[in-house]
Amino acid sequence: MSRYVGAIDQGTTSSRFIVFDHAGTIVALAQKEHTQIYPRPGWVEHNPREILDNTREVIGAALARAGLSASDLAAVGITNQRETTLLWDKATGAPLGNALVWMDTRTDRLVAGYVADGGQDRFRARTGLPLTTYFSGLKLRWLLDNLPGARDRAERGEALFGTIDTWLAWNLTGGPRGGAHIIDVTNASRTQLMNLASCAWDADMLAAFDIPEACLPRIVSSAQVYGVIADETLKGARLAGILGDQQAALVGQTCFAPGEAKNTYGTGSFLLLNTGTEPVQSTAGLLTTLAYRFGEQPPHYALEGAIAITGALVQWLRDNLKLFDVAGQIEPLAASVEDNGDVYFVPAFSGLYAPYWRDDARGIIAGLTRFATRAHLARAALEAAAYQVRDVVEAMQADSGIALRALKADGGMVANALLMQFQADLLGTPVVRPQVLETTALGAAYAAGLAVGYWSGPDELRANWQAAHAWEPAMPAEQRERYYAKWKKAVARSFDWMD
Ligand code: G3P
Repeated sequence: MSRYVGAIDQGTTSSRFIVFDHAGTIVALAQKEHTQIYPRPGWVEHNPREILDNTREVIGAALARAGLSASDLAAVGITNQRETTLLWDKATGAPLGNALVWMDTRTDRLVAGYVADGGQDRFRARTGLPLTTYFSGLKLRWLLDNLPGARDRAERGEALFGTIDTWLAWNLTGGPRGGAHIIDVTNASRTQLMNLASCAWDADMLAAFDIPEACLPRIVSSAQVYGVIADETLKGARLAGILGDQQAALVGQTCFAPGEAKNTYGTGSFLLLNTGTEPVQSTAGLLTTLAYRFGEQPPHYALEGAIAITGALVQWLRDNLKLFDVAGQIEPLAASVEDNGDVYFVPAFSGLYAPYWRDDARGIIAGLTRFATRAHLARAALEAAAYQVRDVVEAMQADSGIALRALKADGGMVANALLMQFQADLLGTPVVRPQVLETTALGAAYAAGLAVGYWSGPDELRANWQAAHAWEPAMPAEQRERYYAKWKKAVARSFDWMD
């Protein structure tokens, strides 16, 4: 039996390839950032070719670093930034344009039109999702309406739609003309075109959004052998797992039982609670989404609190305001002051996601006085992540009736101890960090490994999970609630900015 499993983790800011061993330990890793393209306020694009090239490059680099080849891998999984949408030419493989990134807001007018005709939640029962600029179905609609010739070609099946998992799977499993045109259930559940109960494309949604079925990929399970990789980088390896990145982190954190939850602090933050094999509809502003489907087993569902901007705010302070040179410098800067100096930063750069779903909101900094310094701004930016997570935890508890006992955290920002402590303080519950922090890639590796029998099942995976550190809440409840009330006040002030 091959000794390892590989995972492609294609995220919003970078692509990685990670090789894991049977204990879920990292054997090799390579990573490369790609260009963020901002053609206009609110628009965010990626070049699909650059993403594919970088993916190939990191695969080669990671394997070379560990002296491995494709034959050492029992299987390979893919995990990806989820709602990012593109169309490409079936005959040539050439993208019809850049991919629209999940946080892109260009569909706002389209969304407003649908909301005016039946309300923001008119498709919730069917899809689990409110109407907002976030999801891929209306991004696809925009591409069909705006790229020259796209609609005609899509109707004839000559232009193919995909999220990033689809794009990578098609390129890796085929020759120059492409291979399997597939999307896993978790990514499909973010299109707003999939019926939550049947896990199939929903004919009424396709009609409502005017999407031709001929361009859509086949919806597949998250763990099954989809095909053999033909691409030189991994030639002969089996592609056997696909999960959207947040669902992958849920799997990587081994949250297999109803009531188990994780939060990933990345570009944005995404808190997912496993609700078992029945979808739970949210009335508190959360999303109902697919958690995973292993082989032919029944699908598992999750409630999700999606937050668009957390780590991205740190990058923004670094790149746009030049407040510091490297992201890690934010922590000592923020720690150099006692508290936020009454400054609150609401990073509604793409509107506000859960639990507010306000496309009309835009970022604000509230509470400025002559006393405020760049250190207070840095602190307010870090705290914004924790406040937004508290917002979704409150919604999660309201929807599920389950009180959070501890928060399993992962993602880049968990390296920030100041934030983690503040998060525990603000929630009044411990925040726990696992030993393997690459839970997203690990989840994709787990899915692929389960499909080929490299791992026997969830119990074996659970045994791999180890806590590395826990932050205990220490802030008095009165202080915590006073801070949180101020945050809510600031949030209300970010609304109604866009016409
Ligand atoms: O829904 C968007 C999410 O999948 C992006 O995650 O980690 O790439 O920022 P990340």
